[in-house]
Amino acid sequence: MYLPWLATASAALSFSVHALYPLNELAKTPQMGWNNWNSFGCDVDEELLISATEKIIQYGLRDAGYQYIVLDDCWSNGRSSNGTLQANTTRFPSGMAEVADRIHNEGFKFGMYSSAGTYTCARYAGSLNYEHQDAQTFAGWGVDYLKYDNCYNEGQSGNPLITYDRYKKMSDALNSTGRQILYSMCNWGEDYPWKWAQTVANSWRMSGDIYDSFNRPDARCPCTGNEEYNCALPGFHCSAMNILNKVSHYIDKGVPHAWNDLDALEVGNGGMTDDEYKTHFTMWAAVKSALLMGNDMGRLSARDLSILNNPAIIALNQDPRGTSAVRVWRYDVDDVDRYGQGEIQMWSGQLSGGDYFVALLNAGNSSREMNAMADDIFYDDGEEGTSEESTMEWTIHDLWANRMPEDVAQALIDGNSTQASSLNVTSYYFNATETSYEDGLASNNTLLLGQPVGTLSAKVMITAEVPRHGIMAYRLRLAGWGLRKRDEL
Ligand SMILES: *[C@@H]1O[C@H](CO)[C@@H](O)[C@H](O)[C@H]1NC(C)=O
Ligand SMILES: *[C@@H]1O[C@H](CO)[C@@H](O)[C@H](O)[C@H]1NC(C)=O
Ligand SMILES: *[C@@H]1O[C@H](CO)[C@@H](O)[C@H](O)[C@H]1NC(C)=O
Ligand SMILES: *[C@@H]1O[C@H](CO)[C@@H](O)[C@H](O)[C@H]1NC(C)=O
Ligand SMILES: *[C@@H]1O[C@H](CO)[C@@H](O)[C@H](O)[C@H]1NC(C)=O
Ligand SMILES: *[C@@H]1O[C@H](CO)[C@@H](O)[C@H](O)[C@H]1NC(C)=O
Ligand SMILES: *[C@@H]1O[C@H](CO)[C@@H](O)[C@H](O)[C@H]1NC(C)=O
Ligand SMILES: *[C@@H]1O[C@H](CO)[C@@H](O)[C@H](O)[C@H]1NC(C)=O
Repeated sequence: MYLPWLATASAALSFSVHALYPLNELAKTPQMGWNNWNSFGCDVDEELLISATEKIIQYGLRDAGYQYIVLDDCWSNGRSSNGTLQANTTRFPSGMAEVADRIHNEGFKFGMYSSAGTYTCARYAGSLNYEHQDAQTFAGWGVDYLKYDNCYNEGQSGNPLITYDRYKKMSDALNSTGRQILYSMCNWGEDYPWKWAQTVANSWRMSGDIYDSFNRPDARCPCTGNEEYNCALPGFHCSAMNILNKVSHYIDKGVPHAWNDLDALEVGNGGMTDDEYKTHFTMWAAVKSALLMGNDMGRLSARDLSILNNPAIIALNQDPRGTSAVRVWRYDVDDVDRYGQGEIQMWSGQLSGGDYFVALLNAGNSSREMNAMADDIFYDDGEEGTSEESTMEWTIHDLWANRMPEDVAQALIDGNSTQASSLNVTSYYFNATETSYEDGLASNNTLLLGQPVGTLSAKVMITAEVPRHGIMAYRLRLAGWGLRKRDEL
């Protein structure tokens, strides 16, 4: 069978592809929200969810687009005598339907968790063979999102069709409830979900679990991302660079309504430097990963808030064109860190309105000058410098230059509205509840475009000093047509 989305990531095809399989109308752009697992694990209860929603609103993050509040594992108390899943009433005394109502009343959508196995990963009742009953229960509670894990799957994995069948059962069960429920598969990239899950799910995890490290290798995440496309042991403790390198080989498999999920963000959890978190966040956004914050909102620093709320970066993720950035090159470098890791990368990609994204990523151990050549940036439009784009003039916008200042972010965290308004807080954040990213981009909202810092004219290159484990990220906008035409060069 010919599958056009496997052939190319080009825009023309992504429109016809879109028409082939709208599983549902959800996740036209990657889903955004918060998931408790990375910072709280099993330590969940209804107060945690409600207090997180209040802070997410106060910090302006709900209106930046983080819509889904996703409760992970450990909410359950098993099945009642008639087989219905029931919540732990000590942790959720109000009951799940009431929790969902409160979350909805705050302007969010509510996500829940189960596993396509006999048990969940924390050994609560799983949904394998209970798909229809559990989907009805979730719909009855007012659930809008299901993260569906892969633990205790009774050996029903190891080839794509077995895994497909197991995950499709829940997909069909959710559909038959009649409720719009975003379906987030979490089978850790086993059996190549990026090859088949577009017709079944709105997103699929493509690796073992992330941990709060930029690039430290860990024996429990044995696949490196260089060769192992089908990782026999996805594991956990996968670093941000490990996951990014894995997805680099199949970023084009994410399309509107069906996305690669690089796992929830670690920004705010304390294990990376500011530059490392900027790199992590920028690349998750640029490759169109689901963007689920994974931090404790009660301990968010001003610096970390000003990463999570950067509208110019979120606009990459929510770009209506829905095309991932592509890794154009990657080299090992000699200045390795204490884990023996050192590499540099250049990424580029097309955005809506004819704009381009360019990133210079320095995962070497010291600051360095890096270059992005026009011929490389526009390689997909014409190999070896034959593209018309590489002869045009472009304005270069720095996507981190307008980062919210620390005192403004601190005023938001402190909840001091007097101070926040005297610091003009609203001039730093984009309100996606009011204006969609699509409309904001179409009207050239400067918060979304970044700060103009120069021009790229015919055949030249972008040169930047990139800090250790850091990134420089740009949006290119057409400034003029062929100042020097190709045939005049
Ligand atoms: C964003 O806009 C909505 C709708 O107008 C409004 O209710 C909300 O308070 C705004 N959010 C922020 C953070 O200003
Ligand atoms: C329910 O929650 C309470 C309080 O956190 C905990 O002690 C208990 O073990 C939980 N029950 C189950 C079945 O996990
Ligand atoms: C099953 O039992 C639970 C709790 O005991 C009850 O709330 C629910 O309505 C029952 N469901 C059905 C389908 O009978
Ligand atoms: C169920 O699937 C059909 C087509 O496969 C789709 O048109 C419909 O919107 C889906 N319904 C829900 C609730 O997801
Ligand atoms: C890597 O850089 C860090 C921070 O500058 C430095 O402390 C460390 O010694 C460097 N490691 C190696 C192996 O050079
Ligand atoms: C809020 O900020 C203002 C101006 O910076 C300051 O005067 C006031 O004391 C602060 N209020 C609180 C409750 O911290
Ligand atoms: C806030 O905005 C006003 C009007 O645009 C401007 O006059 C003032 O200098 C700004 N204040 C700060 C702290 O940026
Ligand atoms: C936005 O900017 C582009 C490129 O500069 C221009 O062609 C377009 O007309 C602008 N749109 C609006 C609504 O200003």
